[in-house]
Amino acid sequence: MRPFDGRRVLLVVSGGIAAYKSAILTRRLIEAGAGVEVILTAAAERFIGRVTFEGMTGRPAHASLWDRPMAHLDLGLEADVVVVAPATANLISRLAAGAADDLATTAVLASPAPVIVCPAMNTRMWEHPITQANVARLAGVGYAIAGPADGPLAEGESGPGRLLEPEEILPRIGRALETETGLRGRKVVATAGPTRAALDPVRFISNRSSGRMGFALAAAAWRRGAEVTLISGPGRMPRPAGPDAVEVETSGEMLAALETALTDADILLMAAAVGDFEPIDPAPSKIKKTNRTGNAFDLALRTGPDLLMETRTFRERKGIFTLGFALETEDAVARGREKLERKGMHLVAVNSAVEPGAGFESRTNRITLIDRNGRVEELPLAQKTELADELLDRIEAACPALVKK
Ligand code: CTP
Repeated sequence: MRPFDGRRVLLVVSGGIAAYKSAILTRRLIEAGAGVEVILTAAAERFIGRVTFEGMTGRPAHASLWDRPMAHLDLGLEADVVVVAPATANLISRLAAGAADDLATTAVLASPAPVIVCPAMNTRMWEHPITQANVARLAGVGYAIAGPADGPLAEGESGPGRLLEPEEILPRIGRALETETGLRGRKVVATAGPTRAALDPVRFISNRSSGRMGFALAAAAWRRGAEVTLISGPGRMPRPAGPDAVEVETSGEMLAALETALTDADILLMAAAVGDFEPIDPAPSKIKKTNRTGNAFDLALRTGPDLLMETRTFRERKGIFTLGFALETEDAVARGREKLERKGMHLVAVNSAVEPGAGFESRTNRITLIDRNGRVEELPLAQKTELADELLDRIEAACPALVKK
């Protein structure tokens, strides 16, 4: 899986209760195709055994400077990225001091690769000015500091100090590994999920969109180094770590958020399933069921704002590259082409509303891409996460001037 395939991650584990999460992180990295070398500090070995990592990586885990000559240099040199997780206050202080008194500190010091430090400790230790100064020192030499999260801690206290979850650390490693990218530094706005239109205070009209496609696009663009704003409607899917999240409910709220985010955007990825209809007159209190079973009930609806149409003039003036979607049940290519032109898109991803394994509520999708020159490309059925990268590859190729400026 891009960008992990065949890449080497050096994972340095220090001694904290969160060390077990680094075993889960190792599994995720291997599933994504990376090779993982693990170094444990002496304290880490008290929390989690070498064999746990050896079983997952199929290679020896390292803990001593004296097991293998030159391991302290080779491990750091061969790594494409170094991840310190969990990073205790002690290890952070030793790294900040430039210590090289065990394998962990020596390998990090000797590595030319980007370093990601994921702190985990008690809140008071984290907030102590000495720890803060040490962290600032590491950040000052270019180490990325990921976390800590705020929440319940092992000792029963609560506050900042929790190790980020593996799902939050993984995309940060991906971002550090993205070397072949034209999106670094570009401003990307992505929309995802359904919108709701209220009928009354307890009921609404919505649709079956899960938000997966938009989340996958936002996550992939962020991983490629873009600054991403993800505007999403209500849904049960967890939001991807990385992008700035703006949560909205109605199409009107999504339009307002979109107009703000587009001000300085380079690219719009418009994957939201914006509701087309809204009640003309939503009831201020719960509508009562006054009629009997089977009796007809009128609901007066009107068409809501079309977000691509509303933003078209602005996008065209600013030259914002726009990927849109078209959900069709018939005449897909012709209708997709018509939507591309009418709504001012540069690229339209047409997907079927009826094909099994495609469209709403599915992990997979089948997309036909149409560009402004009328070129039609059929992509094979694939996971939405893979399709997101296929789409971004096309966008980077279609607008090299834009993404490299
Ligand atoms: N879209 C939008 N605002 C809407 C509806 C859709 O901006 N109110 C965007 C979608 O995010 C998508 C594109 O327009 O990128 C096409 O969406 P689709 O649902 O296929 O088209 P509709 O305009 O709703 O047309 P129809 O329902 O007639 O097929």
